[in-house]
Amino acid sequence: MPAPRTVLLTGAAGGLGTLMRGLLPEYGYTLRLLDVRPVEGEPDAITADLADLDALREAVRGVDAIIHLAGISLEAPFEKILKANIEGTYHLYEAAREKGVRRIVFASSNHAVGCTPRPRDGDPLIPVDTPRRPDTFYGLSKSFGEDLAQLYWDKHGIETVSVRIGSCFPEPTSVRMLSLWLSPADGARLFHAALTAPDVGHTVVYGSSANTRLWWDLSTARALGYEPRDDSEPYAAQLIAEQGELDPDDPAHACLGGHFVTDPPIWPH
Ligand SMILES: NC(=O)c1ccc[n+]([C@@H]2O[C@H](COP(=O)([O-])OP(=O)(O)OC[C@H]3O[C@@H](n4cnc5c(N)ncnc54)[C@H](O)[C@@H]3O)[C@@H](O)[C@H]2O)c1
Repeated sequence: MPAPRTVLLTGAAGGLGTLMRGLLPEYGYTLRLLDVRPVEGEPDAITADLADLDALREAVRGVDAIIHLAGISLEAPFEKILKANIEGTYHLYEAAREKGVRRIVFASSNHAVGCTPRPRDGDPLIPVDTPRRPDTFYGLSKSFGEDLAQLYWDKHGIETVSVRIGSCFPEPTSVRMLSLWLSPADGARLFHAALTAPDVGHTVVYGSSANTRLWWDLSTARALGYEPRDDSEPYAAQLIAEQGELDPDDPAHACLGGHFVTDPPIWPH
């Protein structure tokens, strides 16, 4: 596949979309932006809901690839997750199939495997083929998205890299995030690798920087050509001084998904 140049970025108004809008053009991409909300400072962005299959057909026309970030990014009632994340992702894949888009990068999440116990000292890193154990309806929708991606590869030859993103924010803000942090610059490196690696079929990768306190195995991401350059460790001393080490007896600290397992934050809209 020739390197993609024009990429549809869904969820462009969101936190990660805003970071990637700033960083991905440096890799030579022309971005077409889509979100259900207006994208600040981007009058050409497409304002459309993932429920609108006709709008998605139009949005994917002529793009080389899609980075799919749009959707509910926290826990919500099942009916809302169903519409935005499950049906919405299906609509996007259908539009891609109809219009001949061959590569999608799907924003999956650590919450697809959130009920997996986190490694303790000396335990092996969590492999990418660990059984999925969603911690919320949100995580369940990401698990569905990965299966949908597999189906569209097996049946229709659409390639996907499903990136189980840890926490992509400018800085880690919790002790848990020291293990899961994906710096924005490494996020752009990883998306670029996912867009350009040859013959990915459907590949699942974990999305983190090269953190000293990493919980999961980055080898499938590295196999795409991803070379993370950042590490959360410089933030560790201050965060641990403020918040303490993760308490092994606290159920909110026992699993990969952290407090999503016990007390997930709720989507506000
Ligand atoms: N930021 C992270 O660290 C992180 C971690 C794991 C997974 N993810 C995933 O990455 C993606 C982006 O995350 P984020 O932190 O930027 O979330 P966000 O909530 O800031 O952004 C999501 C965007 O999707 C849009 N959206 C929601 N429903 C839509 C619909 N029906 N149609 C069109 N657009 C819709 C929202 O308006 C919003 O701008 C999400 O899919 C999220 O689940 C992010």
